[in-house]
Amino acid sequence: MANPRKRGKDPLTVSAPDERARAVREMFAAIAPRYDRLNHLLSLNVDRFWRRRAVDRLGWLERPHGLFLDVCSGTYDLGIELVRRSGFCGRVLALDFAQAMLHHGRPKIAGLPILPLCADALRIPIPAGRCDGVMAAFGIRNLVDLDDGLAELGRVLNPGARLVLLDFAMPGRQPLKWLYRQYFTRLLPVIGRLLSKHSHAYTYLPESVLAFSEPARLAARLSSAGFHDVGWEPLSGGIACLWWGVRAPVDGLT
Ligand SMILES: C[S@@+](CC[C@H](N)C(=O)[O-])C[C@H]1O[C@@H](n2cnc3c(N)ncnc32)[C@H](O)[C@@H]1O
Repeated sequence: MANPRKRGKDPLTVSAPDERARAVREMFAAIAPRYDRLNHLLSLNVDRFWRRRAVDRLGWLERPHGLFLDVCSGTYDLGIELVRRSGFCGRVLALDFAQAMLHHGRPKIAGLPILPLCADALRIPIPAGRCDGVMAAFGIRNLVDLDDGLAELGRVLNPGARLVLLDFAMPGRQPLKWLYRQYFTRLLPVIGRLLSKHSHAYTYLPESVLAFSEPARLAARLSSAGFHDVGWEPLSGGIACLWWGVRAPVDGLT
């Protein structure tokens, strides 16, 4: 087996969009076997609570038989949270462009109405207006063109259906702001490198979060992409954030 340290390029050191996307895909493929364990360990399991909050915001109860899309699904945790809700009778399409992430999560979805789909979130192979809800956890930040990504998510949603995004953010208030920054940018990369055995995945994580839209700016970008009733909610002191918006009626999307 190839040494994961030698696989892929640091996504932040390559600038061409296709190259960057390839580097991100290769990075997730390399850490896929350890992704779940590291995720829960490094977040002290709080990631499970955040995903619950994301599903609460999806409005699935209005469309319990619907088709829901989990974008950048990784190893399916967000979709699993939805299909296990009592009263849910629909299906989840779990889309990710890293085949290895979908593969490693596969045992967790045995018998569940979750269908893996290996594809790019910027070119979703689903007809317009087909989805009754779209959600993404810790994925949207990785897209090489965020605005194109938001437009694509809007395209596949049917009018009136919701988009919910969950991702890391940086706390806005001291002293948590300073303390968390030290942990996130200094300690986490070291612990992550040791446990994941990957040279840069956990350096990329804080760098990509710091480069990501501030909560209010992402909300503004959702509005610019044509979503309405846009809102956001900081979680756990602002170290994560939820954003949501409703797909505008027909012709409302820019
Ligand atoms: C940090 S993981 C999040 C996985 C999962 N949603 C979770 O909650 O743990 C990010 C995932 O996004 C996927 N991803 C990044 N860019 C993508 C793109 N353009 N299209 C599809 N998947 C993408 C990666 O392959 C990776 O599995």
